[in-house]
Amino acid sequence: MQPYPFDQIIDRSHTHSFKWDNVTYQGKDMLPMPVADMDFPVAHEILACLDRITEHQILGYAIVPESLKRVAQQKIKNSYGWDTPIDWQVWIPGIVPGITAACAKFAEGGILTAVPVYHPFHLVANWVNKSLFTFPMVEENGRWTFDFLAFEEALNKGPKVFLFCNPHNPGGTVFNDDEIKRIIALCQQYHCIIVSDEIHADLRIQPQSEHICIGKYLESSPSISFFASSKTYNTAGLGGALAIIPDPEVRKQFISATLGFFPMLTRHSIDVMETSWTMPSTWLDSLLPYLQSNHEALLGFINRQNGLHMLPLEATYLAWIEFDERIYGDFQQRLFENGLHVLRGDQFLGKNFIRLNFACPRALLDKALGIIEKTIHEIH
Ligand SMILES: Cc1ncc(COP(=O)(O)O)c(C=O)c1O
Repeated sequence: MQPYPFDQIIDRSHTHSFKWDNVTYQGKDMLPMPVADMDFPVAHEILACLDRITEHQILGYAIVPESLKRVAQQKIKNSYGWDTPIDWQVWIPGIVPGITAACAKFAEGGILTAVPVYHPFHLVANWVNKSLFTFPMVEENGRWTFDFLAFEEALNKGPKVFLFCNPHNPGGTVFNDDEIKRIIALCQQYHCIIVSDEIHADLRIQPQSEHICIGKYLESSPSISFFASSKTYNTAGLGGALAIIPDPEVRKQFISATLGFFPMLTRHSIDVMETSWTMPSTWLDSLLPYLQSNHEALLGFINRQNGLHMLPLEATYLAWIEFDERIYGDFQQRLFENGLHVLRGDQFLGKNFIRLNFACPRALLDKALGIIEKTIHEIH
């Protein structure tokens, strides 16, 4: 029996959902597949944890307990083979605020990132008033990787922070050992700090792809690595994340950039992170095959359509789909008019792409494929 009801459709409308209550829908019957949260109910273990907090009836300020620090340390060691002392940990309300603080503090010569990329990675330059440098990702052997020549050219322009998204959103790449070592060599040559966001590390669609923490190789040079349980366990609305910063001076400066800006973590996020990382692995063992099956259905469907192209994802539940503009024009808008909301590739600095979140009951994915098919028929 399926221990978690991934097929169950829960009505999320009128719950202040960023995904389902989008103001642009204006009462129209829409199927939303933009924002990266899942339409699955959270694990019963997490619901029980939240119940315990409610029953206790007190919602005062909270501190991160030693137990969570040890749990996070074990999680990173057991899942990714990186042994990190507890005093390297800095607990933060979310990864995006963490990235912003890191860029505000360390990116004097500018910020470098590969594009397309999760939009805060490029928007942050404007938020903290720094220059942005980008280089393209390229398709190679059926996956997205870096154009390493363009990477070096961009490093030569003097950025001081490289924002690394691994696994990559929206490309779905899990960077391999060779790529990780090339990234380190280049960044060290140009004295650029690596800030690595590993929020999708557990969501590996291709189980054979191994997640490598870049920080593991950077223990004696400045680096910041971010982790969170929120994507894997679908608790993004609660917040809570962790930075691992080996260098004491970098850690001190990072913390100084957060003071007065970052709220304390909530008891809910603290207890839910601890529950997520200690509960039996059955959640992930059930979730991944479900996502893999959705991925397979979507991938096959997309690549059968004339003028649509998708590479298999190694990780994440966010499909990055290329369309031929000559055939489809403004494809995102056409889909929207037919009731399917996906994100426009431009948001990630990718031209002629859409990003579709397939972490939903299969019936909803099938409905989305139906809307895509109808839209294609209208065009042809
Ligand atoms: C790569 C990446 N980093 C960070 C986040 C958001 O992290 P947080 O909610 O902890 O700020 C997302 C959400 O989609 C993401 O895809």
